[in-house]
Amino acid sequence: PSCIALIAAAGSGQRFGAERPKQYLDVAGKPVLRHTVEAFLRHPQVSAVRVVINPAFRDLYETAVAGLGLAEPVAGGASRQDSVRNGLDALAESAPDLVLIHDAARPLIDDTTISAVIAALGQQPAAIAAVPVADTLKRGRDGVVADTVDRSGLWRAQTPQGFRFPDILAAHRAAAGLELTDDAAVAERAGLSVALVPAKEENFKVTTPDDLTRAARILDAGLS
Ligand code: C5P
Repeated sequence: PSCIALIAAAGSGQRFGAERPKQYLDVAGKPVLRHTVEAFLRHPQVSAVRVVINPAFRDLYETAVAGLGLAEPVAGGASRQDSVRNGLDALAESAPDLVLIHDAARPLIDDTTISAVIAALGQQPAAIAAVPVADTLKRGRDGVVADTVDRSGLWRAQTPQGFRFPDILAAHRAAAGLELTDDAAVAERAGLSVALVPAKEENFKVTTPDDLTRAARILDAGLS
C-alpha cells in the first residue's frame, strides 16, 4: 500500500520559550525537523513526506529541509487539529492508501516503531505508537493529592499515528472545530478502532529545553 508521512510542524513553540519554534532548533548538528523528516524518508515503506508549517517561518523551514526534495509544504492552522486537517486536505489529490501523522517535535522516532504502526494497519483502520503508564497517577487539587487514579490499562499516546487515508480525512473533516489533542481522538470519535502499538520512551516530544538536551545526549551517543 502507498503510505505518506504527514509531519505537523506548524506550532509556534510558545511553551518552549526559545527565539524560534523548537522544531527549528539544532540538535546534534541539524534542526529537530530535519531529524524527523529523515527518519521517515529513509523508511522503505514510506513513499513521501509532506510537512505542515506556519508560513511565517518559511525561511527556517527551507533551511531545515534543504536538499531533501520535499513537495511544497502545507500551511497549518491555529490548532494542531487544524494543521493536520489542512495537511490531509492537501494530500487528498494524491490519495495514498495510508497516512502516518507525526509530530515534528519527536525527532527520535525509530524504524521499528514506524514499521510496527504500518503493520498494525493491516488489521485495524487506525494504529498509534504508545507507551504503557508505569508511574502511579495522582489527581492533584490545590497542590495536594485528591486521589490516586487507577493506572491499569492506561497508555501515553505518541506519534506516529497511522490511518487508512480516506477514513481519517473524513473523520477530521467531521471533527473540525473541536479541540482534540491527537488524531486518534478524531478517529475514535468517528467510531474507528485504534490499535495500540508499544513504542519507546525515546520517542518523547521535545517540549522543554531539558528535552532538547536529552535528545542531544541520545543522538550524540549514537543510541538512536
Ligand atoms: O504543541 P505541541 O508540542 O503539542 O505540538 C505537537 C506538534 O504539533 C508539534 O510538532 C507542532 O509543531 C505541531 N503543531 C502544528 N500546528 C499547531 C500547533 C502544533 O502543526 N497549530
